[in-house]
Amino acid sequence: MDRPPRGRGQSWQGKKRPAKKAPSKGWDPVAAWYDQLVGKGGSDYHQHVVLPATMRMLGAVSGKRVLDLCCGQGVLVADLLKAGAKEVVGIDASPRLIESASRRFEREKSVKFVVADACAEKPDWADGSFDAAACLMAVHDVPDLPAMARNAAAALKPGGEMVAIFMHPCFRIPRQTHWGWDEGRRLQYRRVDRYGVELEIPIKTHPGKGGDSETMFYHRPLADVLNAFGKSGLAVVETEELYSHRRSQAGGIRSKGEHRAAREFPMFLGLRVVKL
Ligand SMILES: C[S@@+](CC[C@H](N)C(=O)[O-])C[C@H]1O[C@@H](n2cnc3c(N)ncnc32)[C@H](O)[C@@H]1O
Repeated sequence: MDRPPRGRGQSWQGKKRPAKKAPSKGWDPVAAWYDQLVGKGGSDYHQHVVLPATMRMLGAVSGKRVLDLCCGQGVLVADLLKAGAKEVVGIDASPRLIESASRRFEREKSVKFVVADACAEKPDWADGSFDAAACLMAVHDVPDLPAMARNAAAALKPGGEMVAIFMHPCFRIPRQTHWGWDEGRRLQYRRVDRYGVELEIPIKTHPGKGGDSETMFYHRPLADVLNAFGKSGLAVVETEELYSHRRSQAGGIRSKGEHRAAREFPMFLGLRVVKL
């Protein structure tokens, strides 16, 4: 499933793309599983790392119109409302996740959810009316990041900011990065088997009786991710490398090395970008 290796710094922009596919339905095939995993308050990682970092990096949202790009079942919305956002629009390609989000916030007049492909060409929602935007855990789930970044830029007012948090592309690539133990040096290392090419990695989930379902993880080297934003007129003004809050409980001789590795190898990358 890998795309052919490309030179560093190149992007699909300006190159011949494969024929247009049907509009994406995002994570619709795994919506029930994902909705249950995230629940009302977010997964363990949402609660301890991703949501606090998002709110910290977004800064004051009081009185603002905020776009939640690839909102899933709406995990960020309660925090945005609590912080005083005037209006929240969540968009996601999965009708089932949007249905779940809509149900959860049906009493909130200031919240609207829309089924939409974040990578579509010139979508209605990208209308320059948003003061701020967030995109959580989805940079690696959309098939066309430059297109999503262009739409995010078009959605924001000039000077508007977006926070994107996603798996760190240097250290977290499904099936291509692993922990290892160096007995001689008594340290836990992070092994990276592949990195500098775009990879399409199918991820199997286990939603239960319905059988296995799959989503696609799109690995892109860091430069490609940053360039997708930069070329859309979204300048990076802040970066946070975010670490797992989880620590090994195993104890024993490896415990010091494991703890150090957890403190020093980030799990997520957070970017705050501003529309120029
Ligand atoms: C890992 S989930 C994250 C959802 C939510 N932001 C969260 O943190 O729980 C990735 C989301 O991206 C959505 N998605 C994938 N491709 C998309 C696309 N082309 N347009 C809009 N949403 C998309 C999926 O439907 C899914 O809800």
